[in-house]
Amino acid sequence: MANDDANLMWLEKYRPKTFNDVLSQQDIIVTILRFVNSNSLPHMLFYGPPGTGKTSTILACAEHMYGTNFKSMVLELNASDDRGIDVVRNEIKDFCSTQRIFATGVKLVILDEADAMTSAAQMALRRIMEKYTTSTRFCLICNYANKIIPALQSRCTRFRFGPLKEEDIRLRLGQIAEREGVVFEKDALETIIQLSQGDMRSCINILQSTFLSSGKVTCSTVYENTGNPSNEEMEQIMDWLNEEDDFSSCYDKVKKMKAERGFALIDILRQIHKRLLTRNMSRRAKAYLLEKLADIEHQFAFGGSELLNLCSLIGSFQIMKTLEVLDAAP
Ligand SMILES: Nc1ncnc2c1ncn2[C@@H]1O[C@H](COP(=O)(O)OP(=O)(O)O)[C@@H](O)[C@H]1O
Ligand SMILES: [Mg+2]
Repeated sequence: MANDDANLMWLEKYRPKTFNDVLSQQDIIVTILRFVNSNSLPHMLFYGPPGTGKTSTILACAEHMYGTNFKSMVLELNASDDRGIDVVRNEIKDFCSTQRIFATGVKLVILDEADAMTSAAQMALRRIMEKYTTSTRFCLICNYANKIIPALQSRCTRFRFGPLKEEDIRLRLGQIAEREGVVFEKDALETIIQLSQGDMRSCINILQSTFLSSGKVTCSTVYENTGNPSNEEMEQIMDWLNEEDDFSSCYDKVKKMKAERGFALIDILRQIHKRLLTRNMSRRAKAYLLEKLADIEHQFAFGGSELLNLCSLIGSFQIMKTLEVLDAAP
């Protein structure tokens, strides 16, 4: 490891530099390469969950297309830059309308986290995309395609980035751990993969932060560092939810553990969800509980309260138990 790299975040250090380094998105890359090689790159919209390689793919694409001309041919704006209507009218327009004397081919504007742009700015962008379409291509990047106004969506070829394959993550994460001299348990990598749900950024972050704070990466240091309940703690919570018939006593126990260990309800929910899927129970009771979990998660997305939602979770288990009794009756 070079000294310069010593303090670099592993995320940046291990960001894919070329198309070959990008994992799990082969179909997209094959398509993009076909466009590039036939000089017919369209405007593009990359969308999908975080940490799946959207930014890395367009940077690798730009590197492939421009090499040393990268700086003069690419305008890259992300959420930390101001992207109101003035930026669209001035900065982007200036870039598009300036002639590049020595370079040939189309220029590229990358608008990362484009869902943060106001609709007015998106509308202004539509005109600019049309006007400079012979000389400039746009790549818009966001998590949800529907945050982009339809008029822009329809001008772009859409690429959906899905979560990474577990086997790809396993291999890359293992390589990073070895190159960085991390002492790790194999199971700990599995835990990181399960907690991250296909988000490579999250995997690398957990690996690095657990290593830096605990020295070695084991299942329990991973749970500890991410603030997630361990398997034993989850079993305990499941027991309370399943066995405790008194509502307020169940509430007190879970609430106490949550407070003492600093768990977030959303992390507990995810683990309950995983356990429920494989659990043997009546169809109606399972369907009921899964639907409730989805409702509670939805509440959270809009800022619902932890403790009220904890009550809702406990209540759902109580009703689920009633349903199971009814379904078991002859
Ligand atoms: N498909 C991928 N292949 C390899 N590494 C990836 C991939 N996706 C994400 N990463 C890792 O996660 C980090 C963030 O990736 P990025 O391309 O910024 O994701 P996104 O833009 O989809 O949120 C990168 O530095 C890289 O280390
Ligand atoms: Mg990104």
